[in-house]
Amino acid sequence: MSTQGKAYEGDDITVYYDIKRCIHAAECVRGLPEVFDPDRRPWIDATQDENDALAEVIHRCPTGALHYTRTDGGAEEPTPDHNTIQVGPDGPLYVRGDVEVVTPEGSTIVEDTRIALCRCGASKHKPFCDNSHKNIEFAHDGRLGAGGVKEGADDAGPGLRIQPAENGPLLLQGPFTLTGADDETRDGGTAALCRCGASANKPFCDGSHRDVGFDG
Ligand code: SF4
Ligand code: FES
Repeated sequence: MSTQGKAYEGDDITVYYDIKRCIHAAECVRGLPEVFDPDRRPWIDATQDENDALAEVIHRCPTGALHYTRTDGGAEEPTPDHNTIQVGPDGPLYVRGDVEVVTPEGSTIVEDTRIALCRCGASKHKPFCDNSHKNIEFAHDGRLGAGGVKEGADDAGPGLRIQPAENGPLLLQGPFTLTGADDETRDGGTAALCRCGASANKPFCDGSHRDVGFDG
């Protein structure tokens, strides 16, 4: 589990906040405003509520900007049994599950249960979303294009491995369910998802990254 970012100590719980992965979805502020208060310094006060309530709200953070570790004997964050990818309209890919993101060379960048991945091509923190889709006014309704999902290997494990190809798509390997913004679902084991923003068959890669000279 990721413990990247700044640590905030509570009573037998430590909250970690990675600002580079926060896109201000505000699930935390809505869920526990007394703990997460952007107008206070420090903005996270982990002593303000029960640790179980705090953990439950942290699980809602869709980007993995928030994590925690506990020393009170309470449960750590469960790993979902199935990997899911939700296509955000005009926004990122929200991934949940047993997920590993690796570099094009294969080294681990992060292992996590919650991740938001750039699909507009403009993030300065690729492959993660940094909210740049708003600045460039990225527009896509989030519905699933044609095809795009294939079966995986029979001996594939339960985890989902995501590898950004150099100047190309996100390569997925492992069992997953991809869900479009209209709730259409497609199950698969491999896929190449567009991360340059130019595909005419989003969220799938159609080779347009070469035409637009995508640098990522
Ligand atoms: S829920 Fe996560 S992404 Fe949203 S504002 Fe809080 S820390 Fe940032
Ligand atoms: S990454 Fe966008 S078309 Fe291939």
